Amino acid sequence: MLRLKISLPRQPLRSEINIGSAIRLNIAGLLRESFGSLPQSVCLISNERVLKLFGAGIKKSLKAGGLRPETWLMPEGERFKSFRTLEAALEFLAAKRFERNDVVVALGGGVVGDVAGLAASMYLRGIPFVQVPTTLLAQIDASVGGKTGINLPVGKNLVGTFHQPSLVVIDTQTLSSLPERELVAGFCEMVKQSAVASSSLFKKTVSFLGSERRRCGDFDNSAFQSLIRDHCRFKASIVVNDERESTTRNDSRSRRILNFGHTTAHALESVTGYKKFRHGEAVGYGVLVAGEISKNLGLLSNGELESLKQAVALCGPLPKALDVDQQKVLNALRHDKKSVAGQINWVLLNGIGSPQIVNGRDINETLLRRALEAGLRGPERRTGH
Ligand SMILES: NC(=O)c1ccc[n+]([C@@H]2O[C@H](COP(=O)([O-])OP(=O)(O)OC[C@H]3O[C@@H](n4cnc5c(N)ncnc54)[C@H](O)[C@@H]3O)[C@@H](O)[C@H]2O)c1
Repeated sequence: MLRLKISLPRQPLRSEINIGSAIRLNIAGLLRESFGSLPQSVCLISNERVLKLFGAGIKKSLKAGGLRPETWLMPEGERFKSFRTLEAALEFLAAKRFERNDVVVALGGGVVGDVAGLAASMYLRGIPFVQVPTTLLAQIDASVGGKTGINLPVGKNLVGTFHQPSLVVIDTQTLSSLPERELVAGFCEMVKQSAVASSSLFKKTVSFLGSERRRCGDFDNSAFQSLIRDHCRFKASIVVNDERESTTRNDSRSRRILNFGHTTAHALESVTGYKKFRHGEAVGYGVLVAGEISKNLGLLSNGELESLKQAVALCGPLPKALDVDQQKVLNALRHDKKSVAGQINWVLLNGIGSPQIVNGRDINETLLRRALEAGLRGPERRTGH
């Protein structure tokens, strides 16, 4: 089992990320190690599908540790990341009389994690929180960093808090049941993250994407666990220096750089009503568009843009984006929720592993249109994958 320990400068809390095979079956042991003793009570928050797949083993471990977990299930799907779901979760915690030292455990993908984390951060003004992420996206991204959130009808993740999980249990065995499309989305996020991290993490990621293990869907092995660890370590290294994503920081290690590919992704998702693309798939296109802009500004070489394209292609097939109305995408880009004082801040690449935040003013309309057109064509797929 691999373990990362994270200390946040402004908090007494230490966060621990454990990565391994079947480690969910020892969740009671991991809770004891992380908290120093077992909590009084655990509220397991999940959805029906995920609970059916992994709930029994987790409950067995908790019961063997002397705990009687209460389970609360939320409906499946992004649209249930809502105030109504949050309210129901909080009411459940109150009805079961959870106390300050009890723990909320999120078992599922980013949707479950975001809602459960928000409920844990608000209930009694905050109780401890543990993540057991079961999608690739949640394992390398959503479970690390402490962002929680729900959506409003006008936009995604507009309500949320920062509430760090005390413990993250990443069990690579859980990926075996993940649908291919969710894997592709997770791999696109991996490409995005590694492209801003370093050329070595980018190469390691691409090398796995092109491997036989990826083709066979073999993720429950130490090589893949080490890749996940490196991704989590990178994300944590950014978060500890800029936990709250300061709007005044523009440097290459501010939390904002994790939004690489997200400006176009959010626009694509919004103009297609959040129905056509999984978030990670839209990020795949976002990486390509940001890569094109970077190349057109002379920041990225042709060869590096080609490597980015190849990496996205290796993730797997993406839904076509060329039929999306590009004028609508351009309009949506102007209303990006991450804009500050009305200006979009683009995260671009000054070479692989060297992100640079560029003010939207410095990217003229013609260049943007050209980059959008080229990026939305998708990666030229050169593999038989
Ligand atoms: N908090 C953060 O820092 C952060 C970062 C990135 C994304 N997010 C959020 O994460 C959400 C997306 O998360 P996601 O991609 O994990 O999607 P998701 O949570 O919707 O999960 C995708 C689907 O897979 C199912 N599933 C989960 N684990 C499974 C498994 N092991 N086997 C079979 N099916 C499984 C789920 O029930 C769901 O139907 C978005 O709401 C996004 O805003 C949050």
